[in-house]
Amino acid sequence: MEKTAVYPGSFDPVTNGHWDVVERGLRLFDRIIVAIATNGTKDPLFTIEERLEMLNKTFEGLPRVEVDSFDGLLVDYVEKRGAGAILRGLRAVSDFEHEFQMALMNRKLNKNIQTVFLMTGLRWIYISSSIIKEAARFGGDTRGMVPDIVCEKLKQKFSKA
Ligand code: PNS
Repeated sequence: MEKTAVYPGSFDPVTNGHWDVVERGLRLFDRIIVAIATNGTKDPLFTIEERLEMLNKTFEGLPRVEVDSFDGLLVDYVEKRGAGAILRGLRAVSDFEHEFQMALMNRKLNKNIQTVFLMTGLRWIYISSSIIKEAARFGGDTRGMVPDIVCEKLKQKFSKA
């Protein structure tokens, strides 16, 4: 039976850390659905359409990866897509508490879905979407930390501001 995982997130924007988690996840799963949660509480920099475009471009060379978006509860989406697992990346201890809480809540909501954590590669340990946006906002060069398409979009976004 095909093993599918959903890799959910805000992806505002996708970073090389996210790419690394997907690349590692493909060694465990047959298929990964990278899914943007559209009802996030945060105030996003990029629209869902912009984030979908960046994710599609980032993963276009990986046929076992699909990009999508979802509304509502993650576990409902995972079930609807016929996946058995939620994939999440872990960087440092700081991620742990929130991730632990989400994983346990998701398990409570649907006991058939397992959360799988993968350690991000060491070179991406300091990277987050928020710190990338902060650096880019003040003119910092984010090349080598995010996919090229994201670098371009960040420049466009902040040159307009
Ligand atoms: O990239 P993020 O912001 O850390 O991702 C958080 C995300 C999107 C995975 C989480 O907020 C989520 O799953 N949202 C959908 C609503 C839901 O099911 N929440 C978890 C159970 S309360």
